[in-house]
Order: sequence, then structure tokens, then C-alpha cells
Amino acid sequence: MAHKTTLHLHTSFQIAPVDPRLFGGFLEHLGRAVYDGIYDPQSHHADTDGCRTDVLDALRRLALTVIRYPGGNFASGYHWQDGIGLVEERPTVRELAWQSLEPNRFGSEEFIRLCCKMGWSPMLTVNLGAGAPEEARNWVEYCNCPGGSRYADMRLANGSDRPHAVPLWCLGNEMDGPWQIGHVPADQYAIRAQQAAKMMKDADKSIELVACGSCGVGMPTYMEWDRQVLEHIGDLADYVSLHRYVGNPTGDTADYLAVTNSIDRQIEEMDAVCRAVQAKRHSAKRAYLCFDEWNVWYRDTQGDGESKFAPHLLEETYNLEDALVVAGFLHSFVRHADVVKIANLAQIVNVIAPLLTRGDDLLIQSIFYPFEMFSQRKKGISLRCAIEGPTYAGATNGVVHKLDSSAILDGDRLHVFLTNRSLEQAAEVDIVLADRPVLSCASAEVLTGPDPKAANTFEKRDAVVAVPFDGVKAAEGRARCHLPPLSFAALTLNLA
Ligand code: AHR
Repeated sequence: MAHKTTLHLHTSFQIAPVDPRLFGGFLEHLGRAVYDGIYDPQSHHADTDGCRTDVLDALRRLALTVIRYPGGNFASGYHWQDGIGLVEERPTVRELAWQSLEPNRFGSEEFIRLCCKMGWSPMLTVNLGAGAPEEARNWVEYCNCPGGSRYADMRLANGSDRPHAVPLWCLGNEMDGPWQIGHVPADQYAIRAQQAAKMMKDADKSIELVACGSCGVGMPTYMEWDRQVLEHIGDLADYVSLHRYVGNPTGDTADYLAVTNSIDRQIEEMDAVCRAVQAKRHSAKRAYLCFDEWNVWYRDTQGDGESKFAPHLLEETYNLEDALVVAGFLHSFVRHADVVKIANLAQIVNVIAPLLTRGDDLLIQSIFYPFEMFSQRKKGISLRCAIEGPTYAGATNGVVHKLDSSAILDGDRLHVFLTNRSLEQAAEVDIVLADRPVLSCASAEVLTGPDPKAANTFEKRDAVVAVPFDGVKAAEGRARCHLPPLSFAALTLNLA
């Protein structure tokens, strides 16, 4: 028997416009993400810049908006000047975050060219681990200032006459983690970050900055780090970062799918710190949230590249339940559109990614689909969803509705996103927009698979793929659909 849920919406019950930057990605010099991933001049698919067109074509479907680069942990040992100038003259260095060899063939200019080609907005992470605040400031000058001064002139000498106008910069990465190069206690990071932020904004006052928040809910630094950092940096921080990786090590699918409770809570707690510090500082400036690393990641966690070039690292295989959890993250971001302004799927190719390359072949993993289904429908205003329907209790994550949901109003269209978390039962869902009748369904897709552990492989690529969904009916001003157990659907409805 199907379980029944009614989703009640009203066009006046608005959360906030959805910032398109919620659909960002992350490209780190890690394993085969850059080399042998997005950039591979030896590949049959390489374009004139050495980028793989098959990878780029697949990424285009994700309609990514902002891409964070060059790390991650890598950023804390990276000296940006190693990655500019004549490629043959760039140094090969020992990369310490992932114990790999870094030839610096791909650097700032190559990344910016890639962003231009893809219509991505660049987001750079400066080195506040082994790097000095002034080095960060110099990178801003290199990228964003017109010619006539030392670092901007280097850019001109490298062939870029016009400034790259990089709008968004991260003040280091996971600096509260003992694994981070240059890790320091909160008060010391706060000083470093404030110094860098001041100089970076002095170089270009238009940029926005992301202060490095505590990197996980399980960290002893959680919340207290953020408080100290935000208090010290003050109005220089436009955003504070959140990171979250989740997994299902115990094999409890129902509890795993309930992890959305904990993601919602992380967002709300981090926002609470931002608001508390704002109040304490009597400031008009509110810091918003930048969820600049998120994904499923728990299987392939060995991060030692054994001094190799482009080693196979963190090449996670994703299944149906992981795809539903990825949908869960996106539901949560959309539901918190008033506080989360930027989010970056970590990462985009080969390393904990929706895409995997093998030689010249490319595999689309299960988690690709929910991201695509959401991202293609991201324009509009997030609406509050009132759910009337059954719940269950996850063993560790608490009580959730069997149906997870979010909704975006875009003029005369309503996008509705639905996850049926039930392992056995189909879901009968009624969608009621109280003040506007639903006329018809413009488009809909559904993602499901034979079992929670089903995954796409190079040998069987279609175990978990999105397909057109013809199970949506509009009648008497409302929409109704039947979702299979363990499925995610995205609907676009025409409104009267
Ligand atoms: O995304 C992989 C790694 O996870 C990043 O380099 C780091 O910031 C995080 O711990």
C-alpha cells in the first residue's frame, strides 16, 4: 500500500530567492580531478586548451554556476606563482596535502579560461596555511587589478590584458583541522584571516570573502571556532564556510536518508552563530553561509598519493541511496535559501564526483542526476513546504517525513522536488498550491533503481538514471503523482 502525503504551499509563503550559486562545484588539485580528469591534453577528447570535451559536455548538463579552486587541503600548501607563466618553466613540486607530484601545468590562467568557456564564476581559495596573508593579497592584484603594478603586470605578461574579476575568495581551508598544512588555533587563524582579508579588500574592494568556518559538526571546534573567527574578522567576512561529508557505514538506509535532519540543523546552528556575533558586535552586516564542500564520502578515504602524479585517490562509487542523500542536501539548501547563499558539490570529476573517467571513457554516476534535476530548475523563490503525511524515526538522525520536499516558484511555474524515503512503499503525493491552481505538468523526471545499493558502472551504465516521469496528473487545480519506493522526482508545473 502506498503512503499518502499532501504538500501544502502558498505563493506568499516565501523563504527567499534561490541564489544560483547554491549550484556550485569544486575542483581541487587532488588525485585525478585536474590531470586525467578535466585537463588531459593527451586525451582524444582534448580541446585546444587541453580540456576534455566529454567531461565538459557532461558538466554543462549540471548547469554549475560557481567553481571553487584550487582546494581544499591542496590550497594550504599552494603558491599561486608556481602556476603562472610559461608552462615549461613552471616547477614540479612535492604536494604535501595529498602526497602527490604537482607539475603546475594547470594554474590560474588555465582555470580562468576554463571558467570563461563554461560560464562558471571563479571562486579562489587562498593559502592561509603555509602561505602569508600578503601572498593572498598579491593573488587578488594579479587576478583583479588593471595593469600598472607588479602582480597585475604579470597577468598582462601572461596574455590576459583584462582583469579576471574573480568575485569570491575563500580565506583558507579547514584551518581548524590538525590535518591541514599550517593548522592553528582559532585565535591565530582569526588574526591571519583578518590580515589577509584587509589587504585583499584593499587590493580590490569589490570582492567578497568567505571566512573559514569549523569544518565539521563532529569537531571539538564546532561553533566556538566560528564565534571567535567571526568576532575577530568582523565586517570583513561576507560569508562563513560549512563543510559536510556523510555516509552509510552501518548499512542502515532508512537512517542514512534521515541525515537531512542533521544537515538542516548544521545550517541553523551556523546561522545562529552568525546572528549572535552580529548582535554582539552591534553590526548591520550579516554574514551568510557558504556550504563550500558537501557530498557523500566514506568509502575511499585513503589520501596518500605516494609521491605520484595524478594518483587514483578518493574515487568513490555512488549508488541509489547516495543519490537520494545528495537530493537531501539540495532540499535542505533550497529550504534555507534565506541563509545559505553558496554551496559547492565536492567535487566535479574523478575525486568524490558525479563523473568518472577511465582512459577516454566517461561514466555518469548516480549522484549526477539529482543535481542536474535540481539545477535545471533553480531559478525562482523558495517556498515553505507544509507537509501532511507519515513520518519514521531514523536510528540516529531522528524523526523525518517519509517524503522529503522543497519547492521553487518561478513566475507562472512551480518546481517541486520530492524524495520518497520509504524502502518498500510507493508514495501518493498531492501538491496543493493554495492560492493558484495547477494547470498541467510541463516536465518531470524521476530517479530510482532496483535497490539502494544499485550503482552505475562502466559495464552497466544505466542502473540508476533519471527518466521522464509520466506519473504526474493535474486535476481540480492540484497535482498528484505516485512515486516509487526509494526515488527522487523533480516536477515543473504550469500555474493558472
Ligand atoms: O574534498 C576533499 C577534501 O575534503 C578537501 O580537500 C578538504 O577540504 C576536505 O577535508
